[in-house]
Amino acid sequence: MNIHIDESRVVAELDRLATFSDGQPPGVTRIVFTPADLGARDYLKERFRDAGLDVREDPVGNTFARWNGAERDLPAIGTGSHTDAIPNSGRFDGTVGVLGGLEAIRALQSAGYRPRRSIELLLFTSEEPTRFGLGCLGSRLLAGVLASEEASSLRDFDGITLEEVRSAAGFRGNLADVRLPQGYYSAFVELHIEQGPSLEREGIALGVVTDIAAPASLRIVIEGEGGHAGAVLMPQRRDALAAAAELILGVEAAALSTGVIDTVATTGICHVFPGAVNSVPSRVKLEIDVRDIEGERRNVVLSLIEQTSQAIAKKRGVKVQSQLLNADSPARCARFIIDALVQSCAKEKYTHKEMISRAYHDSLFMARIAPVGMLFIPCRDGVSHRPDEYSAPESIGDGARVLAHALANLAA
Ligand code: HGY
Ligand code: MN
Ligand code: MN
Repeated sequence: MNIHIDESRVVAELDRLATFSDGQPPGVTRIVFTPADLGARDYLKERFRDAGLDVREDPVGNTFARWNGAERDLPAIGTGSHTDAIPNSGRFDGTVGVLGGLEAIRALQSAGYRPRRSIELLLFTSEEPTRFGLGCLGSRLLAGVLASEEASSLRDFDGITLEEVRSAAGFRGNLADVRLPQGYYSAFVELHIEQGPSLEREGIALGVVTDIAAPASLRIVIEGEGGHAGAVLMPQRRDALAAAAELILGVEAAALSTGVIDTVATTGICHVFPGAVNSVPSRVKLEIDVRDIEGERRNVVLSLIEQTSQAIAKKRGVKVQSQLLNADSPARCARFIIDALVQSCAKEKYTHKEMISRAYHDSLFMARIAPVGMLFIPCRDGVSHRPDEYSAPESIGDGARVLAHALANLAA
């Protein structure tokens, strides 16, 4: 089957999508349920309908665009990704999986392919942890990994609950109804940028993912004693930020202590109170992201961070409270989907390699309810979550073309 991908159409759609942003171009900021996010969703639903897909949204805003197959009752083939973007980030993270998935479907339609199983394109709600502190909110609810009561009480950075935020955005209904039944999809395949340097560095066109890393995140609040920067002498101090600084270096040391390159830890958020140059910090909130391809090894790092924080609390006379926000298992991709992707690469004579994903994705949770696979395209210098994130039009075309072949193979 001759698959014609219209690269310039996808690139134009990605460029248009990038305009739905609260960031300074070329950066993109598109936080879930903000006007920028809702504008992006409306734009994409129009594109889905233009392609003749049946569009529906669930109570948390996961959006499904279905190409009905000849045998509609069979479990469908799913593909898709997310379109929310962390502050001041790029235009390709997630969006390539949504618009590349749409282009794969349009290419199959133009090639006269008729699916036996339905093919369903998904736009997941809130893959990024920015607003509610928990990544993959939509796919966790779809997979039943997150209880609806727990989800409803999640609060955003302004203390507003998910319930209030989602209904203000026009999404109603019971969150318990988001969960998909086991067997809803017979396969789920996500196209995504690599968010790492290896494909580009090795000159390989496509990556076929075998495993998705296990993310964990924790929130640590350090309470010391504030006071006048001039009047409080050093021996009397219980400086919360000095304690936090020691802990941040302890987080780095904990990740390095495994001696394995797959272990990573990042202190990405540090809020200082009261935040005045001439006032000794009394409280600091840290948010820490810890990952590894091995769940067990990642958990060792988490407990090492806990021990370090308690030792610092004792030594510096500060109070330290840790809250584990999530500690998810890694996901293994299904061999038959890996094979379908590898065969599709070979059919189009693309160089390819099997690899792990160090970033997490919605597929990590879709793997709880369906066999999953992921296809990576290179991104320049491996950069992501930055305004200079970039994937070339031909790479996007390569990914959509191979995805189209794989979807046709799986939906036959
Ligand atoms: O953080 C991640 O791995 C994903 O890009 N949200
Ligand atoms: Mn991301
Ligand atoms: Mn992503």
